[in-house]
Amino acid sequence: MKKNFGIIGNPIKHSLSPVLHKYWFDKYGLDASYSTIEAKDGDLKDIVNRIRNNELAGINVTLPFKQKIINQTDKIINDAELTGSVNTILLDNNKIIGENTDVFGLQAAYLKEIDSSLHKSALIIGAGGVSPSVILSLQKSGIKEIAITNRTNEKCIFLKKRFSYLNITPWKDLKEEIKKFDIIINATSLGLRNGGDFDFNFSSTKENIVYIDTIYNPLETKTYKFLKEEGRKVFNGLDMFIYQGQKSFYLWNKINPEIDNELIELLNSKLK
Ligand code: ATR
Repeated sequence: MKKNFGIIGNPIKHSLSPVLHKYWFDKYGLDASYSTIEAKDGDLKDIVNRIRNNELAGINVTLPFKQKIINQTDKIINDAELTGSVNTILLDNNKIIGENTDVFGLQAAYLKEIDSSLHKSALIIGAGGVSPSVILSLQKSGIKEIAITNRTNEKCIFLKKRFSYLNITPWKDLKEEIKKFDIIINATSLGLRNGGDFDFNFSSTKENIVYIDTIYNPLETKTYKFLKEEGRKVFNGLDMFIYQGQKSFYLWNKINPEIDNELIELLNSKLK
């Protein structure tokens, strides 16, 4: 029987998840589909019911529903429980299970490049949807000092309730504070295509800084480009995206799909 998957979000039209999963369905000869589902808050219950009655085999969840979807699940597990953020839904023994594969995605993509004995401190810029997963991935990777800053400080205070070890850096001090950290992660929407951007460059950061953009559209933000040209170590969100998808694919299909060059070229071509 054909298995139907999808991703819910809003906006969602430009998601690359269908390209990623279809590539693997073809590669492994699975009779399956993957579509984007633009949703409103009131649609979540119906969509999850479509999983209960096997119309859908599983879904990914993206902004702005990663927290809101939790009310529609029977249980959230592992990293979803630790972050309060769900990006993958599956049916297990007739129960709707919420899991988070973003934490794995981040760890697999960048954090293997980070040596926690050299890179002791990290600053997360932004306290939106992806930030709980960023925090947990850093903590799991042994980073000792994790700070967060956000234009709206209340969101940092809210995150500190879950992750008590967080240090909060005032937004107004950001330009000064970037000098002090070994890892800087941009988890805001600053740098996105057609979006706003930082009003300073990152020239004062440490020479051995690791800079990570959670964004992959564009592949190279202004800050990413600047730091790359300065010879700093930089990563963008594309690898994180691929690895979170790999784990979702595994949870649904019990196949750990290969990330080959053809796939990477395919995704890059869609982002040009
Ligand atoms: P959400 O907050 O709904 O989860 P998101 O896209 O995950 O949305 O998060 C957007 C992040 O980018 C937030 O940290 C947001 O800061 P606020 O919480 O203050 O809104 C940040 N952001 C977006 N535009 C920004 C801007 N012009 N300046 C600074 N931060 C910005």
